[in-house]
Amino acid sequence: MGQVTLRSLRKRYGDHEVIQGIDLEVRDGEFIVFVGPSGCGKSTTLRMIAGLEEIDSGELLIDGVRANEQRPADRGAAMVFQSYALYPHMTVAENMGFALKMAGVRRAERDEQVRRTAEVLRITDLLDRTPRQLSGGQRQRVAIGRAIVRKPKVFLFDEPLSNLDAALRVDMRIELTRLHQQLGTTMIYVTHDQVEAMTMGDRIAVFHQGRIEQVGTPMALYRQPANAFVAGFLGAPRINMVERPPASAAGAARQLWALLGGAGWPGAARLGIRPEHLSVVPAPADAPIDATSAQPPTVPATVVLAEHLGDVSLLHLQVDGVQDLIAAKLPMARVPLRNGDAVRLGVQSPETLAFDAQARALASHSAEAALHP
Ligand SMILES: Nc1ncnc2c1ncn2[C@@H]1O[C@H](COP(=O)(O)OP(=O)(O)OP(=O)(O)O)[C@@H](O)[C@H]1O
Ligand SMILES: [Mg+2]
Repeated sequence: MGQVTLRSLRKRYGDHEVIQGIDLEVRDGEFIVFVGPSGCGKSTTLRMIAGLEEIDSGELLIDGVRANEQRPADRGAAMVFQSYALYPHMTVAENMGFALKMAGVRRAERDEQVRRTAEVLRITDLLDRTPRQLSGGQRQRVAIGRAIVRKPKVFLFDEPLSNLDAALRVDMRIELTRLHQQLGTTMIYVTHDQVEAMTMGDRIAVFHQGRIEQVGTPMALYRQPANAFVAGFLGAPRINMVERPPASAAGAARQLWALLGGAGWPGAARLGIRPEHLSVVPAPADAPIDATSAQPPTVPATVVLAEHLGDVSLLHLQVDGVQDLIAAKLPMARVPLRNGDAVRLGVQSPETLAFDAQARALASHSAEAALHP
């Protein structure tokens, strides 16, 4: 079992309340990801669960039992740090078996555990080396192995892959997901990486200034964020946020609001649309748009920056009278658009999100109707 319950958890350092009442139920066997900007309290929360930080108020339950006062070793939680924190003078095997040795497990049993774990992590041939003789990725495996041999009820990972290069991160991401499927142990995983959050977690908890803004499956958070903060935190490039234009705004700004279905959101202060839901077509100056044709509506825009990534193109567009650039993510075009090109911006998929003046998401009642009158 490995159920973790946080009830109104709080923590302060001096006058700074860094954790301001966190409630969360992590189910047994679940892989939950903590994301949020730097300093929002992810590591502190993890350390309170591990017993490395005292809990000021609120309750931590592990499998239904209050754990606030339990010693770290008695909580059944094993933490893997970004820095690996291996003992430099011990071999890989000794590093991995150390916690068992401390717990008084007999030599033969220890060796057997280490051997089996090394097989799972494919580091059997490294067991006699010291950490100095390992690559970053290998060290990370050893750090994970050291946590696994303890057979914890819950794994706590604090950005374990952030010191690895991009290719190795992808490999380790897949390994860790496999490991979770194999072990079925509860995992709480802190990351800054979008892709890790979206792909690894059964659920994601989005932290912000010592609170949790929203918890849910990756797709639920992506498609139905509770507020503008969550909407902006998941997705790269970020979701486009378009402010309601004042009555005096330029024509294109008002057209954009209409294009995004603004008429269906009388209470909206701003609308959000993800870059992949936009469409862009070239609009040569000598080809005037026929206003009477049955073409879907579009808005004139200018390419400020075109980034061609091979598989997709990211276009950063200026719409007259709209303050922020609009990002569009499109399949790579055969004839790529260039900086300065005139284009027409359209909506490819009607998935506009609307937010009120307090940045809370509005329920999607009439939006469909507004886009397809
Ligand atoms: N020992 C400490 N003493 C005082 N303040 C601390 C201490 N540890 C953390 N803090 C503060 O608590 C807040 C939360 O820190 P925490 O390390 O939990 O953030 P985080 O979400 O893990 O950020 P990052 O993504 O940068 O790792 C920060 O403002 C940090 O400066
Ligand atoms: Mg941290």
